[in-house]
Amino acid sequence: MKTRNIHIAPSLLAADFSQLDKEVQRVASLGATYLHYDVMDGHFVPNISFGVPVVASLSKTHSMINDVHLMINHPEKFIDAFVKAGAQIVTFHYESFANDDQRLQLIHQIKKLGIKAGMSIKPLTEVDEMIPYLKELDLVLIMSVEPGFGGQLFLKNSLDKIAVLRQEIDRLQLPCLIEVDGGINDLTAPLCIKAGVDILVAGSYLFGHDDMTKRFAKLLSHE
Ligand code: DX5
Ligand code: ZN
Repeated sequence: MKTRNIHIAPSLLAADFSQLDKEVQRVASLGATYLHYDVMDGHFVPNISFGVPVVASLSKTHSMINDVHLMINHPEKFIDAFVKAGAQIVTFHYESFANDDQRLQLIHQIKKLGIKAGMSIKPLTEVDEMIPYLKELDLVLIMSVEPGFGGQLFLKNSLDKIAVLRQEIDRLQLPCLIEVDGGINDLTAPLCIKAGVDILVAGSYLFGHDDMTKRFAKLLSHE
């Protein structure tokens, strides 16, 4: 079996917003490769988080990959701004658009700006919807909770979705990465790794705990 490198993407949504710089340096020192920014607009999801200025302020303070997850309507209006702010991956939601042409157009818009393009599906969207896009995408993001809030329970049907994508990506020998987001902890991480994931997003499992170092290591202990 081909060995994969597993990466951790701490989600800033669960960080102490009064100490963002410190929180970022902390996860960087633990060996996180990606930094995950959850952008919410109060329309696509029933919550508001943060936007371009936060990414712009933090993106240059570390050398992790700035991984921006847009849970917003009309993501096409904000791509330029997030790229200027330092985004290196922009992931939008399949459900933000009504048809394939709009989605493909956005993927090309993102890639033309010289960064990586990701697409995400919510828990109720079938994984088959993703397959036709795999050749165009740099990353697929499986939401393992209903997007909008951190600290929710992992939905087990995400594992089948990851496995389907892993098989298809390997069969076609595509460079597309698989990321999973929501409810990741020391119990669910090994299941996702086994199913074929490349990047684990983790928010509330990591931030706000004194033993973050131990927790970080535990996520990778079954690799
Ligand atoms: C949910 C966000 C997630 C969330 C993960 O809408 O996309 O990134 O912050 O949080 P935890 O790890 O707490 O489930
Ligand atoms: Zn996210």
